[in-house]
Amino acid sequence: VGAGADVRVLPTAELIPAALAEVRELLERSFDGEFGDDDWQHALGGWHVVRRVDHVLVAHASVVERRIDVDDRAWRVGYVEAVATAPEVQGQRHGSAVLHAVGDVVRDRFELGVLSTGRWAFYVRAGWERWRGTSWVRGAAGRVRTPDDDDGIMVLRTGPSAGLDLGGEITCDDRAGDPW
Ligand SMILES: CC(C)(COP(=O)(O)OP(=O)(O)OC[C@H]1O[C@@H](n2cnc3c(N)ncnc32)[C@H](O)[C@@H]1OP(=O)(O)O)[C@@H](O)C(=O)NCCC(=O)NCCS
Repeated sequence: VGAGADVRVLPTAELIPAALAEVRELLERSFDGEFGDDDWQHALGGWHVVRRVDHVLVAHASVVERRIDVDDRAWRVGYVEAVATAPEVQGQRHGSAVLHAVGDVVRDRFELGVLSTGRWAFYVRAGWERWRGTSWVRGAAGRVRTPDDDDGIMVLRTGPSAGLDLGGEITCDDRAGDPW
């Protein structure tokens, strides 16, 4: 990685349309066509961590605010979405650089970080921990289990959540697309 590499953190409102289009194109390529409209909506309205090398976008992550309950306590969560590195430059630590900045956003602005993934090792290196309890979603019909998501959920404990028990019941609000 040369001297032309940088990481910036910007709210969605400060990304010009061409930059947003560039982010979406990166996500569609990185997720190999598995990145849909709901996934895109989930990535908007918060903070974007954008990594460029010589002005070319190579990696991205979003941190959006969600209220998430653990047992009886509501947390102001930085929820991480749309993490991707361009296929041709994966394995060069761009993703790790983005995650480092994501951690700063979560620590500076939120009480707890949460995300859902199958790439546990990638996030463990950046200080994330796997959830050990059960996952739930709260919708019109009340609170229901999301057993298929138990395995994927990870959290980044920060100052206020440093002592959080990872074995509890974690509940998000429902939304269009995947709740987690
Ligand atoms: C997951 C993803 C964002 C990682 O981005 P990246 O820039 O490749 O990340 P890094 O280079 O920092 O590290 C990623 C992996 O490369 C490996 N790696 C490091 N150096 C490497 C090298 N020279 N060659 C190949 N692999 C290497 C690391 O071991 C690491 O593997 P692990 O995460 O399984 O432990 C990227 O693979 C991606 O966009 N995947 C498709 C979309 C996706 O799955 N997003 C995450 C959903 S939660």
